Amino acid sequence: MRTYGHRIGGQWVKAASGQTFENRNPADTAELLGVFAQGSAPDVEAAVAAARDAFPAWRALPAPKRGEILYRCAEILVRRKEEFARDATREMGKVLAETRGDVQEAIDMTYYMAGEGRRQFGQTTPSELPNKFQMSVRMPVGVAGLIAPWNFPMAIPSWKMMPALILGNTVVIKPAPDTPLSTLNLLEALEEAGLPPGVVNVVTGGGEPGATLAAHAEVPVVSFTGSTQTGRKVSEACASRFKHCHLEMGGKNVILVMEDADLDLAVDGAVWGGFGTTGQRCTAASRVVVHKSVYAKFTQAFVERARALRVGNGLDEKVQMGPLINQAQREKVEGYVKVGRDEGAKLLTGGQPLKTGPHERGYFHEPTVFGDCAATMRVAREEIFGPVVSAVPVGSLEEAIAVGNSVDYGLSASIYTRDVNKAFTAMREMYTGIFYVNAPTIGAETHLPFGGTKNTGNGHREACTQALDVFSEWKSIYIDYSGALQRAQIDD
Ligand code: UN1
Repeated sequence: MRTYGHRIGGQWVKAASGQTFENRNPADTAELLGVFAQGSAPDVEAAVAAARDAFPAWRALPAPKRGEILYRCAEILVRRKEEFARDATREMGKVLAETRGDVQEAIDMTYYMAGEGRRQFGQTTPSELPNKFQMSVRMPVGVAGLIAPWNFPMAIPSWKMMPALILGNTVVIKPAPDTPLSTLNLLEALEEAGLPPGVVNVVTGGGEPGATLAAHAEVPVVSFTGSTQTGRKVSEACASRFKHCHLEMGGKNVILVMEDADLDLAVDGAVWGGFGTTGQRCTAASRVVVHKSVYAKFTQAFVERARALRVGNGLDEKVQMGPLINQAQREKVEGYVKVGRDEGAKLLTGGQPLKTGPHERGYFHEPTVFGDCAATMRVAREEIFGPVVSAVPVGSLEEAIAVGNSVDYGLSASIYTRDVNKAFTAMREMYTGIFYVNAPTIGAETHLPFGGTKNTGNGHREACTQALDVFSEWKSIYIDYSGALQRAQIDD
């Protein structure tokens, strides 16, 4: 068991308040992973000062050289993948196969952004005047304030950090209080790869350091992943200073199962999409909208599979679903089970917390399915972020699409059908940032844009080259080599 400080300017720094918090395994709260620094405003001040001081030299380093550091970091992550995956399972709870995927996603993003060191393409366009050249280039913005969630404890910090870094920004990151270790592990890999001190700084803790970072006058760009409620506060904190602000928030993603679907495949997808990561993904398939003619068959098979899932400690390779992240999250799930029952949804399986035997010391909950839901029910509209899936029967593709689009979120949607016309129609009509055909709503790769519409996002995307946008400003450059004054729009 180790005591960690903040990581500021390449040094371990104790919390200014002297306070600490424990990081325990949500599958077994007897296991203490470490004691971490409880951040507050002065810690953020120190971290921002370190990032500000590191900015000129980091920005001046040629981008391909920054890319070489990222490449080396990716290699270190490959080498240490198993160790970091185990740490992530111990602090976050999801099963090892999934935390290996989480570290892999960080590896993919780090390689991808390392490559951007040799691209970061701008434009060259012909001028309307003779002997004049013009082009556009990206500029870094400065100190990037990053606020990361706990459900992808290494992947999501990497989605934010790597594009920020390759452009020449420096970083202060505040990981979720449930998963500080994975962010510190990522920084350890970066430092081992040769990242100069102060280029990335980690302040651990709860809401206060996050809020301080979002509002800080010397942090011109903020990227946040978390709840819509907190995202709104971050957005408001950024608005008065006209900061660049990227928000990735809630989801109520939907799988549409049509009458001609391969039902076995659809059930596989619904189980993985609904209960993978214990439903704690913003992309989780928390709704299945099923054509009436196959509804009974689909829900029966789905419920059987949900009931059979082995729930336990994610370090056990036989376990298929881990715990909720903490007690508050389990209480939220229990609250929604009650809401679903009260509003008349039919509890088809689950509905109970698991508190005895091997589940005694963790925040476990049964995989839960509500059937015969009306699209208007809260369990079919609100993000639960737990192992609860609501099934809504419908009579047609048009109705399925309307129900699919009827929620306040717009991250991910999918359709199971063997009819190419239905697939293309849904692909066009679903107003979501991500869409799948014959696959669940989860499983985005790092080289396409990631993000959503409506209350899910604010128009930005992570991953792919779109991730560079929020962390850069464009500069358009005109070079007149005619030796004379040439007036645009006036001289021929
Ligand atoms: C999230 O749900 O917060 O597409 C991120 C997926 C993963 C990332 C999910 N690659 O489900």
